[in-house]
Amino acid sequence: MSRAAPRIALAACIATCCARAFADEGSVQLVDGAGRELTAGICVTCHSLDYIPMNAPVMNRSGWDKSVHKMIDKFGAPIRPEDVNTIVGYLTDHYSGS
Ligand code: HEC
Repeated sequence: MSRAAPRIALAACIATCCARAFADEGSVQLVDGAGRELTAGICVTCHSLDYIPMNAPVMNRSGWDKSVHKMIDKFGAPIRPEDVNTIVGYLTDHYSGS
């Protein structure tokens, strides 16, 4: 029994670390604006919202348009056609650098 203890402790530690890493991901905040909740809610289901500010310097409307369509076509992002404009508009307004 006592030989199993260190393993259990290690497993508990790994579980705690993972939970914390995921909590941090969720804490990335996007700039406030129309469409923020919609955009953040969809994008964060697959990856960190960091991807958005990280790519902002090289983005403009057509860049975001392509990127959002890539998420839908290649990765199966669950974005309704009628929401694409809101999301691309939000990203263009707040995260364009070029
Ligand atoms: C269904 C899953 C999924 C959703 C939802 C999703 N993405 Fe992605 N995204 C990916 C994958 C997979 C990659 C590429 C692999 C990686 O680097 O993690 C990626 C990469 C990216 C990149 C890096 C550049 C590139 O094209 O590879 C950007 C920018 C990006 N996503 C933006 C977004 C935005 C903005 C949203 C929300 C509108 C979004 N993603 C929603 C799966 C998704």
